[in-house]
Amino acid sequence: MGETWSSRAMFVLAAIGSAVGLGNIWRFSYMAGQHGGGSFIVLYLISVAFVGLPLMLLEFIAGSSFKVPLSPAFAKISGRFASLSTPFHLFNLLILSYYVVVTGWILAYFALALLGQHVPFAALSGSSVFPFFTIIVIGLVSLAMNAGLRAGVEKANAFLLPVFFAILLLLIANSLTMPGLGRALSFYAYLGEITPATASAALAQALFSLSVGTGIMFTYAAHLKKGERLTGSALAASITDTLVALAAGIAVFPMVFTYGLNPAEGPELAFEALPKAFAAMPFGNIFMPLFFFLLFSAALTSALSMAEMTISDTSRAFGRKTAALYFMGLLLALSAPSMLSYSGFGLAIGGVPVLDYLDGTFVVALYPLVALLLVLLLAWGWKDMEKEAAKHIPLGFLSLFVFLVKFMVPGALLLLFIANFIL
Ligand code: PHE
Repeated sequence: MGETWSSRAMFVLAAIGSAVGLGNIWRFSYMAGQHGGGSFIVLYLISVAFVGLPLMLLEFIAGSSFKVPLSPAFAKISGRFASLSTPFHLFNLLILSYYVVVTGWILAYFALALLGQHVPFAALSGSSVFPFFTIIVIGLVSLAMNAGLRAGVEKANAFLLPVFFAILLLLIANSLTMPGLGRALSFYAYLGEITPATASAALAQALFSLSVGTGIMFTYAAHLKKGERLTGSALAASITDTLVALAAGIAVFPMVFTYGLNPAEGPELAFEALPKAFAAMPFGNIFMPLFFFLLFSAALTSALSMAEMTISDTSRAFGRKTAALYFMGLLLALSAPSMLSYSGFGLAIGGVPVLDYLDGTFVVALYPLVALLLVLLLAWGWKDMEKEAAKHIPLGFLSLFVFLVKFMVPGALLLLFIANFIL
């Protein structure tokens, strides 16, 4: 398999970079806000422990055992499965097609914040500012792909993640001094009614936030030299991802309550509401660009993981440089509808901007199906699964792991798929 990670630490870092993304800060905060705080968080933790973590470990074990990208790996499981990698690539491209657009918004707001400005979302989304910045993001992703796994993905993670954590700590330290802290903590601790809607939102959020079930973690693990200590790596990545989500809440909610914002504001929380808080707080002109750079570093490292999955697979046919070039063209074309939905064109489906439609309807409906297909292929279709798992999982936990990936994870995904239609 082409290039390998230069160390296990780099692999773990890249897995954290993939998992920690917009899902942790932008999506987690507003989902917890809309679903009543504490109950959502408890269900989220349960989903991570019993569905997300086992699924990540399964992908790690399979990737590091096959040591090839998704399509040759499926072909090795069975000749009949060779073409089944296509839905995974398409699904990742679908997510990436709007993920780069949101990353573009963030970059635009970062640039404005550096200039000490904040322009309302509605004013920007009617202009060509957002598409311009999205194209820059697509260029950056393609450049990293062109550079390679070590010179591109590794370098970006090694630079961006430490910066991300430093900024996160600074923002938390600032939020801890705010008068709204008490209300933020009681919002976290509040256990409201637990409904099926809260449960399915929490599970869906856990899958998305851990980047599991789409083949990305598989691909990252396939680049390992030796598949060592995978259980520790999966624990490190999923615990870090969860802590970052909770920590982001500690950074965001005191601002929300101190400056009288609405915690259930929704997707515009980061772009509309929080800048108002920054404008009002001491040193806000420093915290605002830091906040947008935090979002940008989280988003870019996740976008790289989505791109790497397809590049790893396609560069076997074209070579990496050519694959990266084709990929750039493809991504520009695929992201155009989402890009145009937040430009002067205002492209929409039934009144809903294409981007919101893809994120809220398409991805929500398809994610459980895609993840179900992956877990069925790996836990049921791959006959060496238990033998390989035994090499990595401490004996006392092996049967629990096998039970989780064979029954619990598929069952939960199936329920989630059905719940999306009836709730
Ligand atoms: N985990 C990323 C986030 O939290 C998003 C993502 C989802 C990345 C699925 C890859 C695959 O933002």
